Amino acid sequence: MFKRNRRLRETRNIRDLVRETVLTSADFIFPIFVVEGENIKEEISSMPGNYHFSLDRLHEVIEEVIQVGLRGVMLFGLPDHKDEVGCGAYDKNGIVQRAVKKTRELSKELLIITDVCMCQYTSHGHCGIMEGSKVDNDKSLKYIADIALSHAESGSDMIAPSDMMDGHVEAIRTILDENGFKHISIMGYSAKYSSAFYGPFREAANSAPQSGDRKTYQMDPANIREAMREIECDIEEGADIIMVKPALSYLDVIRWARDRYDVPIAAYSVSGEFAMVKSAGKLGLIDEKAVAMEMHMSMKRAGADIIITYYALDLCRWLRE
Ligand code: PBG
Repeated sequence: MFKRNRRLRETRNIRDLVRETVLTSADFIFPIFVVEGENIKEEISSMPGNYHFSLDRLHEVIEEVIQVGLRGVMLFGLPDHKDEVGCGAYDKNGIVQRAVKKTRELSKELLIITDVCMCQYTSHGHCGIMEGSKVDNDKSLKYIADIALSHAESGSDMIAPSDMMDGHVEAIRTILDENGFKHISIMGYSAKYSSAFYGPFREAANSAPQSGDRKTYQMDPANIREAMREIECDIEEGADIIMVKPALSYLDVIRWARDRYDVPIAAYSVSGEFAMVKSAGKLGLIDEKAVAMEMHMSMKRAGADIIITYYALDLCRWLRE
């Protein structure tokens, strides 16, 4: 006799009872872009509903974050000045360092995660130090570690290196430990793919490479076993949380990682994912809210514990309705 699977879908209460995956506001991290200058709250054209904030207006978004019930933010800085070695990235008084302090003044409890990378700060737009036309891995490590230390000194709770240099988690763990920051955690962008889904972010962060691409350090979208090797390296080097990025086209990678490793997994639903749903919603082609909820549900179902997403504010509001 056939099975009546529909019985458990009969009423809303039964469906709620047997639901396997639940999204909550504690799952999400909201990325925020900070810029130099005054009185700036400027919408990012490629990412409607997201803004560039100057420090004097940062409170507007932080208050909103707290009000909707989010627990964490990820800060990205856009410096005024770029150079070959990305000085602004490890400047104790740099844009992101001041943004961390400001955020901490506004809220004692909010989790502050900082993205460690060089691409917003270098004139060439690559994520490390150049030697001729190549990104020099080992030379970059010292800079990456210094950036992380400057973030910790400013009050960041969690360091998230996105540069994809080999050995970066170890370099960061070492410098943090040596300087009294043993308690500061590291979220490695472990399986970060060389993805066209980052397009809108690069416009938002003014961080596109001026020549070439990121294929010698970010991963080939075709590979999943390689992602497991990257994750394993980050865990061995001391990452407390690992990340898969982008999220939507890489749910298989999240699931493989979930089945193999016991560390918490973050999924970064990147700018292109946000922009696709947002624009299709605006055109009336899809139901934005329903699609966004379903998409984030799929990331959690695949095995993500944490979702970094530009939809974080909206999701929290929708979950309360
Ligand atoms: C910096 C960085 C990028 C993103 C996060 N950190 C861009 C890149 O690697 O080119 C992408 C985030 C997004 O698209 O939302 N390396």
